[in-house]
Amino acid sequence: MSEKPIVYLFWFAHEHLDFRRAEINSILEMYNINIQINAQKDYPYWLVTATSEDAIKKVANRAVSLRFCLELWASSEKLQDLHNGLRLYPLEKIRKHITKDKSFKVSIETFCKHFSQAEKIKKIESFSYLPLEGPVKLKNPDTTLCYIEFYGLKPNNIPDEPYMYFFGRLVANGQRELIQKLSLKNRNFIGNTSMDAQLSIIMANQANVKSSDLVLDPFVGSGSLLVAAAYFGGYTLGTDIDFLMLHGRTRPTRITQKVRGKDDSIIANMNQYELTSYHLDVLVSDFSRPMWHSNFRVDAIITDPPYGIRESTERIGTTKKNLIVDAKQMSVHIPSKINYELPQIFKDLLIFSARHLKLNGRLVCWFPFFRDQYSEDQLPSHPCLQILANCEQTLSNYTSRRLLTYVKIKEPEV
Ligand SMILES: C[S@@+](CC[C@H](N)C(=O)[O-])C[C@H]1O[C@@H](n2cnc3c(N)ncnc32)[C@H](O)[C@@H]1O
Repeated sequence: MSEKPIVYLFWFAHEHLDFRRAEINSILEMYNINIQINAQKDYPYWLVTATSEDAIKKVANRAVSLRFCLELWASSEKLQDLHNGLRLYPLEKIRKHITKDKSFKVSIETFCKHFSQAEKIKKIESFSYLPLEGPVKLKNPDTTLCYIEFYGLKPNNIPDEPYMYFFGRLVANGQRELIQKLSLKNRNFIGNTSMDAQLSIIMANQANVKSSDLVLDPFVGSGSLLVAAAYFGGYTLGTDIDFLMLHGRTRPTRITQKVRGKDDSIIANMNQYELTSYHLDVLVSDFSRPMWHSNFRVDAIITDPPYGIRESTERIGTTKKNLIVDAKQMSVHIPSKINYELPQIFKDLLIFSARHLKLNGRLVCWFPFFRDQYSEDQLPSHPCLQILANCEQTLSNYTSRRLLTYVKIKEPEV
């Protein structure tokens, strides 16, 4: 017998709005979860219908854009109707979570309007008719009830009364704490273009990184994307053309740091987060000349290729015609580099991914743009890769980058 559908409220952090849907969709696909979503563009909440609380917990256990999920007990555009709805909420359902021996607390959330502590307590007291019997415990109670007032999206035009009221039981928190835990601020080793923790986590989710997956970043830099992938149980590999970066010998990125220290390395970062066992290795290699065996396959490729702004776009090559390095010089010869044009990087990246991803494996990569020149038909494409998501992060008035998620749908023809 299937369980009865229950309505949940998903409450999101109000940043990276364009990434929400793609992140949640990826997680739903990864766990094969089926839910109905009722969402309005840019609103911080979704109404979600699901038949299992476990499914909701699984999503929350991965999603970084999500703040929390409530089992919705009542919602309304009018306060009186919210109280009426709550009074009608079945007692036996309340009793499952609120009893004499279970601690609880009521928390308050207001969107687009702030209230003093005294005002919040007054709001909480208005729910005194609920049969809340157990002891109040503010830290880690058995049950958390949550009351929410939504005052719209316009901070310059806040109404006196909220547009919506919600009341429910907290089912799970999203992964916002992970942003602090993996923050670049406290990371041993960072480079000038290290990706922040939140976007790295979103990328790992978009790539469906699961326990024991093999994950590659071919433009690995300081390895920030691999940290998030390893956190979700992926075994990580990286390559980069920059020997000094991979050996932690570039100029320090933090202005407070004069010289690089012994902990300036990707492996020290992995140690810092107790993820060492997930780190396979990083190698110096020019991506334009991939070194992998034709049978080499990975579950996911996550990467942030160079845009030529804060790091050079280069590959091994020479402009000299007919240059021949004789055998004697070969062992000490340092090859020269030439420019690696952005369209060529992405062409190579898609060909490489089509070849080396497992079937249904994902490529998640950033693609830079001048905003006024963007059009969808410029997106890199390959017959073996289907684009699943395309989310924009604005960088300045003129520039933005898009996080592209591809899935491999077939093997390339030989
Ligand atoms: C945007 S950065 C990546 C930053 C990285 N996500 C991190 O966490 O530090 C791009 C990287 O691509 C590397 N790169 C540039 N040209 C390359 C090439 N031909 N082959 C491999 N790596 C290259 C650069 O050295 C740089 O580290």
